[in-house]
Amino acid sequence: MENTHHVTAVIPAAGLGTRLLPATKAIPKELLPIVDTPAIQLIVEEIVASGIRDVVFVTARGKESIIDYFDAYPQLESTLSERDQDSFLAKITEPVEMARYIAVRQGRPLGLGHAIYMSREVVGDNDLAVLLPDDLIDAQVPCLAQMMEARRATGADLVVALMEVAPEEVSKYGIVAGTLTSERTFSIESMVEKPSADRAPSRYAIIGRYLFSSDLFKYLAQTQKGAGGEIQLTDAMDAMLRDGRRAVGYLFEGTRFDTGNVFGYLEANLHYALKREELKDPLRTMLGEFLAR
Ligand code: G1P
Repeated sequence: MENTHHVTAVIPAAGLGTRLLPATKAIPKELLPIVDTPAIQLIVEEIVASGIRDVVFVTARGKESIIDYFDAYPQLESTLSERDQDSFLAKITEPVEMARYIAVRQGRPLGLGHAIYMSREVVGDNDLAVLLPDDLIDAQVPCLAQMMEARRATGADLVVALMEVAPEEVSKYGIVAGTLTSERTFSIESMVEKPSADRAPSRYAIIGRYLFSSDLFKYLAQTQKGAGGEIQLTDAMDAMLRDGRRAVGYLFEGTRFDTGNVFGYLEANLHYALKREELKDPLRTMLGEFLAR
């Protein structure tokens, strides 16, 4: 299949963020800062750096501030320019101008597959890239761009990001069955959402980056409740495989953080802070002092 379609990125951001309560009682987890930048901005930056300009947020009640964040704020902009605070001005306007945004809502929390299905009318016949905002990936070449290249090279109908995880971790992920065909490419035969350790077909876990054609929506429409009583994206993909679609897993280059839990969130903050020129030395000194206490 030729992959010449326009690509729309879809970011499901309708979850309650319970693992980060109480912070997420009044602030969407996607807006919690990584150092000083909302996590979801790093996701949009990855999308834009991969050459995609159209972004769809799937949000829910109480998460309107995500849309506000990516909208212009004339009053704040004029205050900052009157005060000659141009660097802050640039910081608040960049995310607004970087891409085109559309938001849709998922009224009921019926699962990830259902959340993605809510984007069908705005995605239309375009291909889609799905990025789960809990998964932050720091890489030389953006993870999504690596996957787009893998899709071009293999001609696969769908591509997912893969990472090898420890046996006790498999039950947290979608796990694939198949064979490694090159250093980073995995030919997927089937997949299962959150299997128990003894039923997992491998230790290759799906990480939150996916590429599809709009064909996906047809399968999502038919997907029944699966693991956790939710409509699972993994089950829709597995149905595509059973129908003869070709799926490739890509063992991406980069470091991945699961910012949806407290430890992963702290880890991501430290990682990105240590990359900041103005923060890294004082931070190292401070950490050394903390550890010596
Ligand atoms: C989701 C997907 C799962 C995937 C994971 C990656 O699960 O359903 O297949 O492995 O993201 O982070 P969640 O973490 O939303 O439970």
